[in-house]
Amino acid sequence: MRSVRAVGSANRRLSEAVQKVKRDGHTSVLLGGDHSLAIGSIHGHSALVGNLSVVWVDAHADINTPLTTPTGNIHGQPMSYLLHELQSKIPILPNFSWIKPCVSARDVVYIGLRDVDPGEHCILKLLGVKLFCMTEVDRLGVARVMEETCDYLSAKQKKPIHLSFDIDAIDPSVTPATGTPVVGGLTYREGVYVTEQLCQTGLLSAVDMVEVNPLRAQTERDVQSTVGTAVDLLLGCFGRLREGNHPSDYS
Ligand code: ARG
Ligand code: MN
Ligand code: MN
Ligand code: MN
Repeated sequence: MRSVRAVGSANRRLSEAVQKVKRDGHTSVLLGGDHSLAIGSIHGHSALVGNLSVVWVDAHADINTPLTTPTGNIHGQPMSYLLHELQSKIPILPNFSWIKPCVSARDVVYIGLRDVDPGEHCILKLLGVKLFCMTEVDRLGVARVMEETCDYLSAKQKKPIHLSFDIDAIDPSVTPATGTPVVGGLTYREGVYVTEQLCQTGLLSAVDMVEVNPLRAQTERDVQSTVGTAVDLLLGCFGRLREGNHPSDYS
């Protein structure tokens, strides 16, 4: 387990910062940085608004526990600390004792998965987590994936949505500047469509845009393409339409 203490204490501060943003009535935007930041972001969000839906857009499931992790990287584990259903599997860790599980497995939807570890696959199946891996995106198309995602999340009760968007969900030909790229990802347009549809629900309450890492780029063009895509995804979350906007759209 790498950098446990630092990750634990940074996330504690982050949770408090997100709570303040939500207390002030804003939509929270987290720019990262390592996906372990989702621990504090989701914890803080839920501490203020209560039960959440989580849409996790990622090549990876990030649901390893400290016992299943093949790498020791906490960015591959944030979901396991947040889910009620996994609490008995989480050992005591330094600077992690403040974390309270706050999300139910039935309130999570994954989109874009294509690199899932064996332990993670087992957890996802045991908990029956709703997921649209890239096979599903290929089979159904992104429009149907988003229709089913929104239906699934609003079927019971309309909860605020937390979007955790790992830039590596997008194909590395578009967003190469990231730590753990995986071929065969979402196109730029599929990514933007996901954000537009989530914005349309009117329930988007917090967004993480993570694993954007200019230091991993080979060229300036790689940086521009990765960062530009992240910005466009965020604009999609906040109502930018590809047909164009005019001021009354925002009222
Ligand atoms: N599954 C691998 C692990 O647990 C890779 C996780 C990648 N996650 C990320 N946020 N980049 O280490
Ligand atoms: Mn990372
Ligand atoms: Mn990832
Ligand atoms: Mn991730």
